[in-house]
Amino acid sequence: MPGKLFPIGGPVAEEDIVDREDFIVSLTLRLAEGQSVMLYGPRRIGKTSLACETLRRLKTKGFYVASVDFFRLTGKRDFAIALINACLENRTGIRKTLDVWKDRTKTIIGTDKLAIKLQDLELDLGLSRGEQDDDALLDYALGLPDVLAKRDKRPLVVLFDEFQDASRVAGTEIYKKMRSYFQNQKDVAYLFLGSKEGMIKTLFSDKREAFYRFATILPLPPIPAIAWVEYIAAKFRARGILCPPEPINEAISKSGGHPQDTMVVCSELYYALLEAGQDIISLELVQLGYERALLTLAPIYDEILDDLNLSFVGRQVLKRIATAAGIYSIAKANPNEIKRTIDHLLAKNIIEKTGRGSYTFVEPMFRDYLLREFFSGD
Ligand SMILES: Nc1ncnc2c1ncn2[C@@H]1O[C@H](COP(=O)(O)OP(=O)(O)OP(=O)(O)O)[C@@H](O)[C@H]1O
Ligand SMILES: [Mg+2]
Repeated sequence: MPGKLFPIGGPVAEEDIVDREDFIVSLTLRLAEGQSVMLYGPRRIGKTSLACETLRRLKTKGFYVASVDFFRLTGKRDFAIALINACLENRTGIRKTLDVWKDRTKTIIGTDKLAIKLQDLELDLGLSRGEQDDDALLDYALGLPDVLAKRDKRPLVVLFDEFQDASRVAGTEIYKKMRSYFQNQKDVAYLFLGSKEGMIKTLFSDKREAFYRFATILPLPPIPAIAWVEYIAAKFRARGILCPPEPINEAISKSGGHPQDTMVVCSELYYALLEAGQDIISLELVQLGYERALLTLAPIYDEILDDLNLSFVGRQVLKRIATAAGIYSIAKANPNEIKRTIDHLLAKNIIEKTGRGSYTFVEPMFRDYLLREFFSGD
């Protein structure tokens, strides 16, 4: 049985990361030099894939690496434990080293030799249990990366994924607290990933915000069509499938080269081809693959729409952008409300500005979905 030809969902392996080589090399160098980086971009564009590959390379160069995904965490204690575990994995190779902390009925003192390993990393094991201890544990966790790096004489790179969720997890004060620890950590570099562009940029580039000038801010660029063409053609060729340029260009033009959307289109195209028992990609198969990809992506697009929570006017604005109609001529709509909607759509990475008063969808397939499913009855 052939494996999954086009990987979808979650970080992809090195050989399936299209066109990010230069970016990964540059990111790896910066982090290796101790420069912290904030990497931002729209959803499902490949931030986590790129970060995981970067960490993998740093590890092979002898760095310690640790990663924490805020999306999965629910509270301060959870965060502290995740960070401590991620740091300690470098030493022991054992996951969930500190899980004992989750179990409030147990005492950590003398539990096992792992606790002793922590002792050498200056954890005060004499803490009593309770809310206050969550703060103490968090303080310890935030200081640990540097303690570990120094103790083991190994530079450490820490990845914080979905960084915009840190305040949900540990309260708004967390950013200041983190900065106060991180700024003195000479042997640790941080890689922050975020998808809420506005919030992330503010946090790192506004003088009044906690992470001002702490990290270099890098946007993740789109993947050029030519890189997709090469990748897709090579993948199909490896399976003995003929791949004329025209249908491939058509597939990429329909997906707009958006990483996940393009992968889903290619994957559905591949299965359509298998079902049809053919070994040459045609425009008809691309069309079929595209239709199926839209169905596959519908739940994601529904979620995006729910999250946008649009008013009546908001909906009209979205429709006008989707149909390339004038936005400021919506009957009885307040121009301020129209402006607010546009700012909201820009902040959510749904649209991007292409010129004065003109906007386009970041994901052409989302636009298509809206026209077919959402606005079709209007
Ligand atoms: N460079 C790439 N080349 C090919 N496919 C990619 C690339 N980047 C992302 N993808 C596709 O997009 C999917 C999502 O990638 P990933 O999880 O890395 O993105 P993300 O930006 O971290 O997403 P999220 O916003 O959900 O956290 C992957 O499973 C893969 O199908
Ligand atoms: Mg991600």
